[in-house]
Amino acid sequence: MMEVKKERMIAYCLAAILLVVGVICYAAFAKKPPEQPIRIMLKNTGGNVLFDHKEHLAESGYGIDCADCHHDLENKGDRPSPCGKCHTADGGEGPKKSEAFHKQCQGCHKDGGGPVNCAQCHAM
Ligand code: HEC
Ligand code: HEC
Ligand code: HEC
Ligand code: HEC
Repeated sequence: MMEVKKERMIAYCLAAILLVVGVICYAAFAKKPPEQPIRIMLKNTGGNVLFDHKEHLAESGYGIDCADCHHDLENKGDRPSPCGKCHTADGGEGPKKSEAFHKQCQGCHKDGGGPVNCAQCHAM
């Protein structure tokens, strides 16, 4: 009789501990991911490009508005789509993916003073 009771106690304790651990883990890891990416690795055949998203932004960096790059944004606060959703590798409606990136990134850098040499972007 005693043995069974003890085992049951142990089982209850374990269940209680697991519950506590579960709640703590949920609280610690269930935080929402950041709304805006901080850095993005743009993988491609020319050598990967590490794009510092945060550094380019209006509030935290070079003062550029979301819609200046995410030209698909209709309302402030909407979540933009990845460029490649429309700019596919072999061209959809607009310029094909690599051209869209080169045009936008280099285009602004030519005026605004960012890097324009291949290896400065294709550095990874
Ligand atoms: C200098 C250009 C630039 C600016 C400014 C910019 N972004 Fe981006 N953003 C990008 C690029 C490039 C990507 C990567 C897109 C891809 O992977 O096709 C990206 C990716 C994102 C993604 C991830 C999209 C996905 O689902 O993969 C979100 C969300 C995002 N940006 C939100 C914002 C918001 C909000 C702002 C303004 C506060 C902003 N961005 C400003 C260029 C920019
Ligand atoms: C919802 C679809 C869509 C998304 C998402 C999108 N584009 Fe476009 N883009 C287009 C279309 C369609 C065109 C051609 C018509 C136009 O200029 O609006 C275009 C045109 C362009 C052009 C040429 C503009 C010019 O003046 O010649 C560039 C550069 C460009 N996109 C870059 C990007 C970049 C970089 C991203 C991601 C940050 C992006 N686009 C996201 C659809 C999209
Ligand atoms: C609307 C303007 C604009 C656009 C679009 C833009 N940049 Fe920039 N970028 C800048 C400016 C401004 C600087 C900082 C120049 C300085 O003061 O040194 C910069 C700096 C950089 C740097 C060097 C320093 C750093 O922050 O890492 C890299 C790399 C870079 N940009 C990559 C990119 C890539 C890749 C894209 C396209 C996905 C892009 N940029 C689009 C304006 C822009
Ligand atoms: C301002 C940054 C920047 C500069 C400067 C730059 N690139 Fe790129 N390049 C990119 C980005 C961003 C992509 C697209 C990454 C993606 O597809 O996600 C790209 C894509 C490419 C690709 C892949 C094309 C494909 O169809 O897959 C090649 C090859 C390439 N670049 C070569 C070059 C060469 C050569 C130069 C110099 C003449 C150069 N790039 C200058 C940012 C840059």
